[in-house]
Amino acid sequence: MDYHTVLDEKLCEEHPALVEKYKLEKSIGGGGQSTVYKAFRRSDGKVFAIKTVHGPDGLFEARLMAMLEVSLKGLDEQGLVHFEQLIREEPNQYGEVYHLVLELCNCSLHDRIKYKGQLDEEESAKIVIALAKTLKRVHDNEIIHCDLKPANVLLKYPRPGMFYVPKVSDFGMACWMEDPWNECGAGTWDYMSPEAMLDGCYITASDVWGLGMLLYTCLTAICPFPNMDVEVVFKNARKRDRSLRNLHHNSMDWDSIPSLSARQLIQGMTELDPGRRFTLEKVLEHEWIKKYL
Ligand SMILES: Nc1ncnc2c1ncn2[C@@H]1O[C@H](COP(=O)(O)OP(=O)(O)O)[C@@H](O)[C@H]1O
Ligand SMILES: [Mg+2]
Repeated sequence: MDYHTVLDEKLCEEHPALVEKYKLEKSIGGGGQSTVYKAFRRSDGKVFAIKTVHGPDGLFEARLMAMLEVSLKGLDEQGLVHFEQLIREEPNQYGEVYHLVLELCNCSLHDRIKYKGQLDEEESAKIVIALAKTLKRVHDNEIIHCDLKPANVLLKYPRPGMFYVPKVSDFGMACWMEDPWNECGAGTWDYMSPEAMLDGCYITASDVWGLGMLLYTCLTAICPFPNMDVEVVFKNARKRDRSLRNLHHNSMDWDSIPSLSARQLIQGMTELDPGRRFTLEKVLEHEWIKKYL
């Protein structure tokens, strides 16, 4: 029995509604709450990525994706991963299971940095330009992403040899502006703004912070907290230890950012006070960005 058949058999049992429509090829990613598969649609052989999410969080993400798709319909947003359809399994002993059928991308930005190391200024700037424009559209649609990081940016090569399109992905932590998260520390520590970490306050400026940290990672290939004990940070965050506000800035290696202008941009995007932090418009008008627009 080959690998594919084994995968299919297990999934047939657990996810009959999905397997009826799609042939799963292999697992290509995932985390605690999800598994992502490469799959082919049985009706026409078209290839997709399928993100299977479990439990109440899965339900939340699935609903959000559906709403996002509706609110962005017609905008032809190439900076987002195309959402094809949602498949829901009948609740069974495995709990609530939803499948998000998505456009298949080539890899994540995290994979790219792992493979290539530091990205050059032009590539990093092009990534930030594309993501800032997409995030602006997302914010205009009243949605805050809340979990921007290299693993949540997917790269799609239109054709071999062409520059890839970076896409904002994984809206599993996203929230509506009118109903934001109110919980400290939801998201990923390395890319989390101080207002989210300490006050549970998620605003559009928190996404700019995440984008600034992402730019730092592109240019240096270092994550903001290379040696951080996450448990300790979490404990201190719960105690609302204000010294955590400077945590990122103290841990970052500013000297490894190649140019002064790029450093100033990252500093503006990671201002501790969200009121003084660069807006996305200001990011796109920055002199370092303008060189590559
Ligand atoms: N549409 C896709 N195309 C290709 N790979 C994907 C796709 N969606 C997710 N992945 C891979 O799976 C990983 C986890 O997906 P993600 O949506 O971030 O799930 P989680 O909510 O578990 O973090 C990504 O970092 C990426 O490597
Ligand atoms: Mg993710």
